Amino acid sequence: MAATSDLYFAQQAVGEMANLAYLVGSRETRQAYVIDPAWDVQGLIDVAAKDGIEVVGALVTHYHQDHIGGEIFGHNIEGLAKLLEIAPMPIHVNKHEAEGTMKVSGVSESDLVRHEGGDLLELGGVAVRLIHTPGHTPGSQCFHVEERDQAGQLVSGDTLFLNGCGRVDLPGADPKAMYESLEALKQLPDDTTLYPGHLYSPEGHDSMEAQKRSNPYLRATDVDTFLSFMGVSS
Ligand SMILES: [Fe+2]
Repeated sequence: MAATSDLYFAQQAVGEMANLAYLVGSRETRQAYVIDPAWDVQGLIDVAAKDGIEVVGALVTHYHQDHIGGEIFGHNIEGLAKLLEIAPMPIHVNKHEAEGTMKVSGVSESDLVRHEGGDLLELGGVAVRLIHTPGHTPGSQCFHVEERDQAGQLVSGDTLFLNGCGRVDLPGADPKAMYESLEALKQLPDDTTLYPGHLYSPEGHDSMEAQKRSNPYLRATDVDTFLSFMGVSS
């Protein structure tokens, strides 16, 4: 019989660019992290509050405006700065993404906790492992949600989508690093459920086992094949 899960997990569609934000935490401690709070920050806090859960920190997959707020194409998307107005809390970023996060979202150095890949955050019986996955941006990170005796979840930002992967043609992108990052994600257990940063497919999640079979970006067997598939010469 499967052990009872302590996991609190919610996926929320936000904004006009098909973004997906997440709440990940512990039902026992009634606390959660919000992943990529943008577009409707109060709405995300309200989803947690309705479930009796307090948001105690923010996790940043990467510094693009549609994930953390900021100015883009003449529009101002709300994000981390709005979150801190509502409730002060630490913002967890990969150390390579700290400068970009401050510049884009308007938060300060003292608001940030800079992380290395492999760092672990814990709420109750739920742990979130920070996996550094450069490629889309230098400090992109994915979040592997781990709980004893339970299958895990991977919140992948713009690194891995259902049957796709993030763009590698924007400033700071690195196609070879993206290949290595996807190789690392392929090592996660097959029963891991993938939760991407955008809803670019009919379903909002899939198993890594299915994605390893169907996602052409995960099926590339060597870096040159991957680069030619991405339209980049090696
Ligand atoms: Fe992005």
